[in-house]
Amino acid sequence: MVSVVFVTAQGARITAHAEAGDRLLEVAQNAGMPLEGTCEGQMACSTCHVIVSPQWFDKLPAASNEEEDMLDLAAGVSRTSRLSCQIALTEALDGIVVRIPGEARDMQIG
Ligand code: FES
Repeated sequence: MVSVVFVTAQGARITAHAEAGDRLLEVAQNAGMPLEGTCEGQMACSTCHVIVSPQWFDKLPAASNEEEDMLDLAAGVSRTSRLSCQIALTEALDGIVVRIPGEARDMQIG
């Protein structure tokens, strides 16, 4: 079992439980996170964008060029942004902390 801690745009922490091999996108959706994932993992949208906490970011396999290109289009990207549809959970990621980006308007506040 792999625990994932989601931090909502409002700052609430929600712990979800998943199995190794599950995609982070589905785990987030099942936990009620507002990620659309419109293209269902085809890297043709950026609505599955999440921000991984820095200490966990380095444990993830590097993003592909396609993922980086798509992240450039996402609102509110940070250095540790990823597309959640591209992240497969493993036992090594047990306890990973992932932040759900706020609405685009949050960017003006900082
Ligand atoms: Fe579209 Fe992830 S679901 S890029």
